[in-house]
Amino acid sequence: MIALKTKIAESILPAILSINAECGFTAEAIAEMFEYPPADKGDIALPCFKFSKALRMGPPQIASKLTENLAIDGIEKVETAGGYLNFYVKDEYLTKTVLAEILAKGKDCGKTDLGHGKTVLLDYSSPNVAKPFHIGHLGTTVIGHSLKMLHEYCGYKCFGINHLGDWGTQFGKLIVAYRRWGSREAVEEKGIEELVALYVRFHKEAEEDKALEDLARAEFTKLEHGDEDNLALWKWFVDISIREYKKTYELLGIEFDSYCGESFYTDKMDEQVNLLRDKGLLKIDEGASIVDLEEYKMPPCLILKKDGSTLYPTRDIAAAVYRKRTYDFEKCLYVTSAGQSLHFAQWFKVAELMGYDWANRLVHIPYGTVSINGAKLATRTGNVVLLADLFDSAIAKVKEIIEEKNPTLPDKDEVAKAVGTGAIVFGYLSNNRIKDINFILENALSFEGDTGPYAQYTYARASSILEKAGDFTPVTPAQINEHEKALIKTLALFKEKVLAAIADYEPSVIVHYILDVCSDFNRFYHECPINSAEGDTRSFRLSLCKGTQNVLGAALSLICMKAPEKI
Ligand code: ARG
Repeated sequence: MIALKTKIAESILPAILSINAECGFTAEAIAEMFEYPPADKGDIALPCFKFSKALRMGPPQIASKLTENLAIDGIEKVETAGGYLNFYVKDEYLTKTVLAEILAKGKDCGKTDLGHGKTVLLDYSSPNVAKPFHIGHLGTTVIGHSLKMLHEYCGYKCFGINHLGDWGTQFGKLIVAYRRWGSREAVEEKGIEELVALYVRFHKEAEEDKALEDLARAEFTKLEHGDEDNLALWKWFVDISIREYKKTYELLGIEFDSYCGESFYTDKMDEQVNLLRDKGLLKIDEGASIVDLEEYKMPPCLILKKDGSTLYPTRDIAAAVYRKRTYDFEKCLYVTSAGQSLHFAQWFKVAELMGYDWANRLVHIPYGTVSINGAKLATRTGNVVLLADLFDSAIAKVKEIIEEKNPTLPDKDEVAKAVGTGAIVFGYLSNNRIKDINFILENALSFEGDTGPYAQYTYARASSILEKAGDFTPVTPAQINEHEKALIKTLALFKEKVLAAIADYEPSVIVHYILDVCSDFNRFYHECPINSAEGDTRSFRLSLCKGTQNVLGAALSLICMKAPEKI
């Protein structure tokens, strides 16, 4: 409806300016003010109280003034009601303009060129190497990727960066543990699980044998100085871990443009530490170097430990500078749990104090905690649910349902993967990202209710109707019934939902929109015969199925979901 809003705004602007030429309203600003009224009050509404102050007039007077001699293409009639202007859109506009565009553009029908010529970096997923990749990473991984898809869809050039936690003293411990108790075969075979076991064993043994800690520190120092054997081991641990993450990324259709983790910045921090010192921002506090942020009501940002070693914020500052130089980003987004909000607020402030004028383009995107079925279930690695296990169990359950309900379905395994994975992603992303959520697996996997399987099933339903129909010529009639109209009006919202999701960094906007499309489509499907209808009615209804398929297909891919043609 963006185009129509703009058109109405342009049409009423002269009347507004005629009341007060100095009021400062523009067509763009007015186009942002529209609301969607309840069904019997028209199709779009303009709340006139927003003009009252500037025009020194009551909303009802403004409303009636604006409707004098108003005629807009595509608008059937305008009514004034309690300070609102309610516009009724012509059926013909909905079919010949809105639906026709959705049909012509296919999966691109929700695109705008918002991001044309701009680059966005997304730092997401970013697990810590040799540690479990668990459900705590679900948020950063799927919110991050969905935001990448949304930005790309609107023309931004995007780079997904996996800022791996691949550096620190823990690698000294792992090297010691591996040399003492590990075997190449076990690590190759069991991957991260084995690395975690070695790490756990290290800590257990170190309780008895205090010398182990010193040994580990020494091995890490050797690693920092480029010792070849240690570097080879470290690199292998990183590769083993990435190999495992990639299995999950593949399920979700995620590919990263860069796996430059924390280690990548080891030689890039001195420059920043020197700059901090030159600018007089560093203070020594009990031997450590810090930036005092009391003035900004935050605890100090730690830059160097007593022994001179760098910290998490130091690496983030160096990484941001590197990224600005390398990619010249418009925005750099960091998707992490809300637990890291202070960390980001602190170093963003430090970057600003350092004089980096682009510091205000760094955006932290926090999300809440997640538990599954009321608890963080115990698993084979201890007390966390691994992301891969979560997806595997969802896929296995979906496979069971398919075997029971539709055993002759082609590509059963692929469909089970798409639906099982999608169920988790959809269920997770349906929540406002900042909320702490408890995930009930069984609910998410249900084909009924507001779930991923239901959304994919609706897409498959539209697809199968179209497949059965074969070729048809799209028809856009001048008159349509209420169910057809409700569906087109919802399809027409796609672009603005995409923009809203980007503006708030909130993929849940798309999830809720998908549910609206599904519900309108399913009502239409139940109320209006499609393939059994005749002539133009049949062709038009098939056109609606096609439009729905375009919008749903595109919207599902924006939230990292596949849309199988058959389920
Ligand atoms: N590795 C960190 C963790 O698992 C997340 C990194 C987020 N990105 C960043 N640039 N700090 O908590």
